[in-house]
Amino acid sequence: MRYFGNNISMVVNEMVVSYSDLGPDNAPVIIFIHGFPLNKSMWNKQVEVLKDNFRVIAYDIRGHGESDTGNDPFSIDLFVDDLIRFMNALKIHKASLCGLSMGGYIALKAIEDNSERFEALVLCDTTCKTDLPKVKATRLKTIENIIKNGVFKYADGSLKNLFSPESFTTKQDEISSVKEMIMNTSELSLCSTLLALSARQRTCTGLPEINVPVLILVGEKDGITPPAASRFMQEKIKNSTLHVIEGAGHLSNLENMEEFNQQLQLFFDPIYKNQQNVTQSSENTVLRDLRNKLSMLLSFRSI
Ligand code: MLT
Repeated sequence: MRYFGNNISMVVNEMVVSYSDLGPDNAPVIIFIHGFPLNKSMWNKQVEVLKDNFRVIAYDIRGHGESDTGNDPFSIDLFVDDLIRFMNALKIHKASLCGLSMGGYIALKAIEDNSERFEALVLCDTTCKTDLPKVKATRLKTIENIIKNGVFKYADGSLKNLFSPESFTTKQDEISSVKEMIMNTSELSLCSTLLALSARQRTCTGLPEINVPVLILVGEKDGITPPAASRFMQEKIKNSTLHVIEGAGHLSNLENMEEFNQQLQLFFDPIYKNQQNVTQSSENTVLRDLRNKLSMLLSFRSI
């Protein structure tokens, strides 16, 4: 049985996972994977526009939002394992993924290891590359600072990297809600995730093997995973398109929601229409068979 709505919870991999599940039962499934250190609510505006035609699921990665932390050390592999078990628990055999930044790292690793489970990919403000040594060193310093100064100070500092300078005047609501998401993440989860991010493996060599449609979106002013990282992936993935989101920083879906949503719809609508056509054409075959049987019966009766 399927549960609909926001903030549903379910036990996966021995911990509670919180998720939202909206849209029609038989529609194609899109799973949204949030960035660090946010949660599923960062996708609210995308879920809203897609839920009429798609079954849209957004979940909290372990240690974020309302999901439990569990007992295992965090890693991208563990997050991928959680995702696959989550899909299994929901009996979803195939889905499209839309992941931003850390969500993109998870999506890239998930498709590398389980290509048969995915039918399309949206990679937002992300990269297939690992951290440069200086980024790794900054992450370790950040862990020390969180332990010493707490989450409040960390939240203020990270907002500057996540948003473009203009967004600080035009997107104040989005900035406050991101700050709240960060403040609601525990110190333990922040530090464990920073370690997982710095230890992540490259997924670039698997890019030429991806054979589902891929949309790559990146904020024009993304300073964490800049447009060059997206161009690199686009050159390696056969069936991919790249769109740079005007004026946005790292959180392109929040900073220029209109353009971001328009690109999502342009990408996903044909997938939905094709699936509808397949359903319609199989319905047509059933109807044709029934009509043939009926006309045979009628011709017997008239003998
Ligand atoms: C994110 O938005 O998920 C993070 O910026 C990822 C990272 O720090 O590598």
